[in-house]
Amino acid sequence: MKYVDLKYRPGRDEFIAEYFLEPNKLSFERVCEHLAGESSIGTWTEVKTMKAKILKLRPNVFSINKKERIVKIAYPPELFEPGNVPQLMSSIGGNIFGMKAIRNLRLLDIHLPEKYVRSFKGPKFGIPGVREKLRIRNRPLLGTIVKPKLGLNESEHAKSAYESWTGGIDIVKDDENLTDMSFNHFEKRVEETLKMRDKAEKKTGEGKFYMPNVTGETHEMLRRANFVKKHGGEYVMADIVSIGWSGLQTLRNYNDHFSLIIHAHRAGHGALTKNPKHGISMVVIGKMARLIGVDQIHVGTAKVGKMGDFETPEVEDEVESRFISEGGHLLEQFWFDVKPVFAVASGGLHPGSIPRLLKKMGNNIIIQAGGGIHGHPKGSESGAKAMRQSLEAVMKGIPLKDYAKNRKELSDAINKWGVK
Ligand code: 3PG
Ligand code: 3PG
Ligand code: MG
Repeated sequence: MKYVDLKYRPGRDEFIAEYFLEPNKLSFERVCEHLAGESSIGTWTEVKTMKAKILKLRPNVFSINKKERIVKIAYPPELFEPGNVPQLMSSIGGNIFGMKAIRNLRLLDIHLPEKYVRSFKGPKFGIPGVREKLRIRNRPLLGTIVKPKLGLNESEHAKSAYESWTGGIDIVKDDENLTDMSFNHFEKRVEETLKMRDKAEKKTGEGKFYMPNVTGETHEMLRRANFVKKHGGEYVMADIVSIGWSGLQTLRNYNDHFSLIIHAHRAGHGALTKNPKHGISMVVIGKMARLIGVDQIHVGTAKVGKMGDFETPEVEDEVESRFISEGGHLLEQFWFDVKPVFAVASGGLHPGSIPRLLKKMGNNIIIQAGGGIHGHPKGSESGAKAMRQSLEAVMKGIPLKDYAKNRKELSDAINKWGVK
């Protein structure tokens, strides 16, 4: 069977996958044939059960750039079940990664036809809905992660959240590995933290928000989301790589009932995204998460923070160019009726990073800092104040060092971490 047809022009209803490919021994074209076959209707040998009607479902490898090792394949829509991301990933991101004929393979991007995109719910709130709920229209949102990431009990957690809110933070979140622990139970934590949220709202006159981590077995996750809703929460967060596409789809589908904002943490994505030659790009993960319907998702910090890898700047550049500069934000680009999603910058940020971060990422983002707030020499409340002051300085166009002159919290933060 032949899949390579460089004269082929894909139709608007087709699915297009773009790969970086490094063959193992066989020629580039031969491996493209294997790649297209195994990700669609083929296997390693011709089979007697093949029929003419099935051959019509064959994809076409319509573009090969041997120098860059980039391959593009167009798949007919019948190969994919609407509303089923796991099935899509088992096809274009499945067996092919393990094939002997392939040394390295990276799923760089995917383009989905309108009908398929419309078979998903997409974000319930998206950027406009989140901004409306938070009543913050013209500046980045400020968040923090309670630290240490594990170990505090429920009331210590709630106290740290309170201090962050009263210092000026909008959103407080649990860390990715904090769920229902022997030393900090989910339900008690949610109750105590939401109580402190109400108190912080009264004290500051501002809206304050808490993102409890509901990550867990699917039914339990839904039960936890329900608990959050019943106790007056507005948000849930989930670790989308750990819970998987299926878990995320379930959470989103049930969210028609809960109506909570869904925050996506991407812990574990590095196993897929970090090697520039192999795996699945953050572009694909971001698109899938938006399609399913998260409202906000971690995308890194454009080399300003702690995550990333200086050995693989290509990967960072890929994220930076696609999520930040290329004709507007990937998560905000027009995509039929799918709402735009907030990019969350998180990991190693502190007050001194804000000017550079916003210069690179723009104002339509969520900034989060854990260590950069709770590591402030005077504690969490001062750390939160310093963060808010830094944001104010950037919004007013005043250099951080000038703004810090009569602001003790900001100047303490700059003395500890610098402006970089
Ligand atoms: C699988 O999903 O494991 C493959 O479809 C195996 O098929 P094969 O025996 O034709 O390689
Ligand atoms: C996160 O989950 O995003 C991190 O906990 C960020 O923490 P940090 O600001 O201390 O790096
Ligand atoms: Mg974390």
